[in-house]
Amino acid sequence: MQKTQERHNMTGTNMQAIVQDRYGSADVLELSTIERPEIKPDEVLVEVVAAGLDRGVEHLMTGLPYMVRIAGYGLTKPKTRVPGLDVAGRVVAVGSEVTSFAPGDEVFGIASGSFAQFAAAEETKLAHKPANLTFEQAGVAAISGITALQALTTVGKLQSGQKVLVIGASGGVGSYTVQLAKALGGAVTGVAGSRNLELVRSLGAEQVIDYTAEDFTDGGERYDLIIDTGGRNSIRRLRSVLAPTGGLVIVGGEGGGRWTGGIGRQLRAMVRSLFTRQRLTSMISKEDRAFIEPLADHMGRGEVIPAIGRRFDLAEVPDALRLLAAGSLSGKTVIVDDEAGADAS
Ligand SMILES: NC(=O)c1ccc[n+]([C@@H]2O[C@H](COP(=O)([O-])OP(=O)(O)OC[C@H]3O[C@@H](n4cnc5c(N)ncnc54)[C@H](OP(=O)(O)O)[C@@H]3O)[C@@H](O)[C@H]2O)c1
Repeated sequence: MQKTQERHNMTGTNMQAIVQDRYGSADVLELSTIERPEIKPDEVLVEVVAAGLDRGVEHLMTGLPYMVRIAGYGLTKPKTRVPGLDVAGRVVAVGSEVTSFAPGDEVFGIASGSFAQFAAAEETKLAHKPANLTFEQAGVAAISGITALQALTTVGKLQSGQKVLVIGASGGVGSYTVQLAKALGGAVTGVAGSRNLELVRSLGAEQVIDYTAEDFTDGGERYDLIIDTGGRNSIRRLRSVLAPTGGLVIVGGEGGGRWTGGIGRQLRAMVRSLFTRQRLTSMISKEDRAFIEPLADHMGRGEVIPAIGRRFDLAEVPDALRLLAAGSLSGKTVIVDDEAGADAS
């Protein structure tokens, strides 16, 4: 009731948003009333119905590893005051150069500042929401989904019939990787913690390995492609279960140190790759609709269904980030604005 009243009291150009004026833990986040973003000629203003949480949001909140700050996100405080990247909602206005969207369109994609009632998105980072997806599902799709798609296709070069090992199969990126790998004809083994093994099976993994009880290098199995998103295993361990001409794609992994996030592992893979027939690679996801649209096609055909674990409203974003930091969330986490109609398809 109080929330409805607050929304009602806001002026035409105001909105509620999570804001942060310094780097730090989730304690730096506050729900506040601020001006709606203005759009540039190549941007779209989206009324946010659902927004997704991912590890990138946590890195931009903490400013860690420090490399994030050097990469241009703000040396001493975040350049973007409103966190959030993944978005789904309705277009309310378009810039003068925008040709693909019109007011009223239902869209999803990436909009920096999506933990708010309105967010500005570049036209090239949005796609039309598949009709069979709810806003909640579409709102958690782009960031992790296109990372998974690129890891498997442009970087990993998955062929139908190949054996794929997904390390971190229950996480944001992993939950899409398992489903996409299956859709592309791969036979998937997923590595996850005990509480998430059923989830990973339900996503389509033929085999599951509980990293708290088993060592994935013990079984004697060799994989054609390994997608590594968690656990920070050494290149030597990863190579030991990779086929002689197989491919390794290092997507990421938490806990790599405050300065570089442990990028040395990626660099070692690159150097080692020069001396072996195994393809040892890493990647930085390209945020572009060239990947968002094919992801939408997979979801539209029902081959990929976003695995939503927990739902939070805007005021609860700090709680969501605390749970993410503690490793207590599974699959994707969605931030919903019930009043904007998250339940509508
Ligand atoms: N390169 C890029 O462009 C790019 C893009 C997106 C993300 N990333 C990075 O990729 C990583 C994964 O992102 P995310 O959003 O998927 O994170 P996430 O949702 O937190 O998922 C992490 C996964 O790692 C698993 N895990 C944790 N400890 C493990 C261990 N010791 N052995 C094996 N698996 C373990 C977790 O399993 P349980 O929860 O079951 O324990 C979970 O499945 C992050 O470091 C992120 O920054 C990189």
